[in-house]
Amino acid sequence: MKLQTLQLPARLEGSLAAGHPWVYRDHVPVGTALPDGAWVRVAAGRTTALGLWAAAGAIAVRVVRRGAEPDVLTPPDRAWVEATVGRALHLRANLEAAGSDAYRLLYGEGDGLPGLTVDRYGRFAVLQAYAAGYRRADSDAAALQREVVLALTRALPLKGVLATPGGGEPLQVLWGEGPPAELTVREHGLRFLANLFVGQKTGLFLDHREHRALVRAHARDRRVANLFAYSGAFSVYALAGGAARAIDVDLAAAALRDAERNVAANADVIGADAGARHATLRRDLLHDPAAALAEPAVAGSDLIVLDPPSLARHKGQRHGALRAYRRLNAAALAALPAGGLLATASCTAQVSPEAFRSVLAEAAGEARVEAQVLHESGHALDHPVPLAFPEGRYLKFVLLRVTQPRRGAPSATAGARR
Ligand SMILES: C[S@@+](CC[C@H](N)C(=O)[O-])C[C@H]1O[C@@H](n2cnc3c(N)ncnc32)[C@H](O)[C@@H]1O
Repeated sequence: MKLQTLQLPARLEGSLAAGHPWVYRDHVPVGTALPDGAWVRVAAGRTTALGLWAAAGAIAVRVVRRGAEPDVLTPPDRAWVEATVGRALHLRANLEAAGSDAYRLLYGEGDGLPGLTVDRYGRFAVLQAYAAGYRRADSDAAALQREVVLALTRALPLKGVLATPGGGEPLQVLWGEGPPAELTVREHGLRFLANLFVGQKTGLFLDHREHRALVRAHARDRRVANLFAYSGAFSVYALAGGAARAIDVDLAAAALRDAERNVAANADVIGADAGARHATLRRDLLHDPAAALAEPAVAGSDLIVLDPPSLARHKGQRHGALRAYRRLNAAALAALPAGGLLATASCTAQVSPEAFRSVLAEAAGEARVEAQVLHESGHALDHPVPLAFPEGRYLKFVLLRVTQPRRGAPSATAGARR
C-alpha cells in the first residue's frame, strides 16, 4: 500500500517523538485531501509516524504508531491490535478482583488507539468513536475498529459489543447480542443500574469510581449533598460509608428516579433504613446554586459533592467555564460549616488541573472561607493519559476541608467535631 507522507513543521518533531498523538489541521499542508479515516504518514524533522486522517475537525491526524516501534510506518496488523488490547486489559486486571465489572476498557490515546474508547458494563462492551472515519464502513479506521472488536471478544467473556454513535442516535450492536433494557453492574462491590440505551456518557460516569470510594471513606455520620448527582452514585457510596443522610440534586428527573433505585438496590450494605436516609431534589444548579444549597432539604450539609457537566466545548468557552466553577464552588464553600468537606470535580478538558486549583482558591476568597486540600487526583488507571499529552487530562477532583467557615455558616456538626 502506497501511503502519502505529510510534511509537518520541523518544530513539531519534539512533541511527535515524545508521543503526542494529535496533529492539528493548522499543521498539515494546506489543501491536503484524503479519504476520511485513511492511513497517512506524517514527518517532522527526522521523526516519522503513522496515523489516521480525519477529513474534518481541528485534529487532522491521530497518530497510532511512532518512534522505536518495529514496522512503525506499516498499518497495524491483527497481532499488533491483539497486543495493544492485551496491554490495556492487563492494566485493568485487578479491577474485577476489587469488585468492579464496570470500567473503561480502552481509553483512546492513553491505550494507543486514538479516538476510540470502550467501556465495560459486565458482559457488554460499549464502543464510542471520536473520529467520523471510524464510522465509515469502508475506511482504514473502520477496519482497525473491527480488529479491536474481534480482539475484545477473544479476550473477554462478552455477550455483546455495542457502539454508541452519540448525538442521540440509537445504540448499534457490532457483535453478539444487545443488552437488556437495564443492566446491573458492580463498582467496588456496590450495585448500579446501567441503562446503556438512554444513559448519559456510555451508561455511567465510570471515571469517578475511585473518587466515589474516597467519599465513602470520609462519609461516616455526615449529611451529604450530592450536586449534579446523575443516578446518585456518590450518594450510594456515602450512605454505604455510614452517612447520616444524602440528598441527590440534578436537573434530570429520570436520573433522580434511577438514584432512588440505586439506593434501594444497595439496601443490604446501606441498611434497612436506606430509603429514609436518602432524598432527591430536581433543581437547575447552574442557574442559582446558592439558592439550591439554602433549601431546607439541602441546608446543613457537611459533605458536598460538586460534579457539574463539562462547561466548555472549545477554547472560546474557557473563561465562562472558569467563572461558573468559581461561582459553584464559592456557593458550596460558603454553605459548609467548620470541618465540612467539599468533594469538587471538573471534567472540562479546557480547564487544566492548575487552573482548577486556582479557581478553587478564588472561590474560597469569594466565599470568605479558609480551606485545606486533603486530596487531589485526576484519572484512575482505566483512564491512562500519555505524559506527552496534556490535552488528555480532562478530569480533576479535589477534596477540600473548611478550616475557617464563612461567618454565619452553620456550626456544630458531626463534621466540625472531627
Ligand atoms: C458529570 S455528570 C454527574 C455524574 C455523577 N456525579 C456520577 O458520579 O454519576 C453531570 C450531571 O449534571 C446534570 N446537569 C446538567 N446541567 C444541570 C443543571 N443546570 N442543573 C442541575 N444538574 C444539571 C446532568 O443531568 C448530569 O447528571
